[in-house]
Amino acid sequence: MQEWKEMLELAEKWALEAGKEQTARAEKPMEMSSKSAAIDLVTEMDVWTESFLTENIRRHYPDHLMKTEESGAYEGNSPYEWVIDPIDGTVNYARGLPFYCISIGIRYEGETVAGLVYAPKLDEMFEAVKGEGAWLNGNRIHISETKRLDEAVVGSGFPYDKGTTEDNNLPHVQQVVPRLGGFRRTGSAALDLCYVACARLDASWEIKLHDWDVEAGLLLVREAGGRTKVSEEEKGLYALAAAPGIYTELEALIKR
Ligand code: IPD
Repeated sequence: MQEWKEMLELAEKWALEAGKEQTARAEKPMEMSSKSAAIDLVTEMDVWTESFLTENIRRHYPDHLMKTEESGAYEGNSPYEWVIDPIDGTVNYARGLPFYCISIGIRYEGETVAGLVYAPKLDEMFEAVKGEGAWLNGNRIHISETKRLDEAVVGSGFPYDKGTTEDNNLPHVQQVVPRLGGFRRTGSAALDLCYVACARLDASWEIKLHDWDVEAGLLLVREAGGRTKVSEEEKGLYALAAAPGIYTELEALIKR
């Protein structure tokens, strides 16, 4: 078995354990603080989950690199790197909305080779392995066959600094939404990508993301048959994922 499949199996075990703790803890009052903006939150469970995951990884793979949302980079001497968002959709989590998840991507020599996104409240485990496919709770998933924008349901999100700079995606939203069948904003970029992978959405795009938000989700979309585009901009990543039938038309509308 390729080493990264064993890593993914362990990641699945740890994500299930951490997710159980997240849903249990969500019932009680929680400590939280703000980061880049008042609504850019970090809860005690973001911090707890990140330590739980990084400690387990360190114990099993002491030389692996890690990149995490809350504490940054962990150096190592290995071709493997773990890219971790302990809770994507923290605002949802803090408000009792079910769209939050743990996202873990695994890179080998800089390329994403495996990943998972686990939404504990919904008990949905999305997984992908490069060249082998994508799954939801063990069942193969595929991208939608939608070919028309006016039949498509598309997701996006808004950067935390949307109120303080004109460099946001509101103009794109204004441009695209009238042409779509429907528009959704779940509050989790990682789950949006999973929903594209399993055809609940036909596409999603967002700006000012980080690789921990999208590392696993983009692999899921590609392995489910979708097209993706990521570019590094000054303030983060621009990421687009779409069903092949609408990719070109959508990409032209939201070009930056
Ligand atoms: C955020 C979510 C949100 C997106 C933000 C992300 P976080 O991640 O994915 O949907 O709009 O750009 O930062 O802060 O909840 O981990």
